[in-house]
Amino acid sequence: MLLEKTMVENNETVDLTPLDEILDAFSEEQGAIIPILQRTQELYGYLPAEALRHISERTGHSLAQLYGVATFYSQFYLQRRGRHIINICDGTACHVKGAPRLVTTLEEQLGIKAGETSPDYRVTLEVVYCLGSCALAPIAVIDGQVVGRLVPEKVLKLVRDLD
Ligand code: FES
Repeated sequence: MLLEKTMVENNETVDLTPLDEILDAFSEEQGAIIPILQRTQELYGYLPAEALRHISERTGHSLAQLYGVATFYSQFYLQRRGRHIINICDGTACHVKGAPRLVTTLEEQLGIKAGETSPDYRVTLEVVYCLGSCALAPIAVIDGQVVGRLVPEKVLKLVRDLD
């Protein structure tokens, strides 16, 4: 069910040639599922169903095993993500300093809900909980860069300025 859903939602063809290079590099290592999945995700930005099927064929691990690992660890994504990843912190300090307004402002501007990716795959909007920079609350992490003391106008401008 999960596999079918993922295949339908992503509905895209991926180039498996670079994946073969990864699999070749790990061909002597039994049980290297996690590093293979990590490298695969680095390659595609997520774990496409087609790539998982190919990994299954090449390594002999069942698809169920691969999906089991991919869904157990939060570092893995089964859905295609945006070119830009926006994490808004809604931990306690950020929440009281206005994080919910940042989230609703971006949801309205982007036309998506937190946890979703824009239809053009430009942006993925996520809510996270305390990133350890509470003194700068409310914060966002945009493509890995921490931005603090945000207000809706500022976060809107930052997101508009992304390519
Ligand atoms: S609550 Fe947001 S960084 Fe701690």
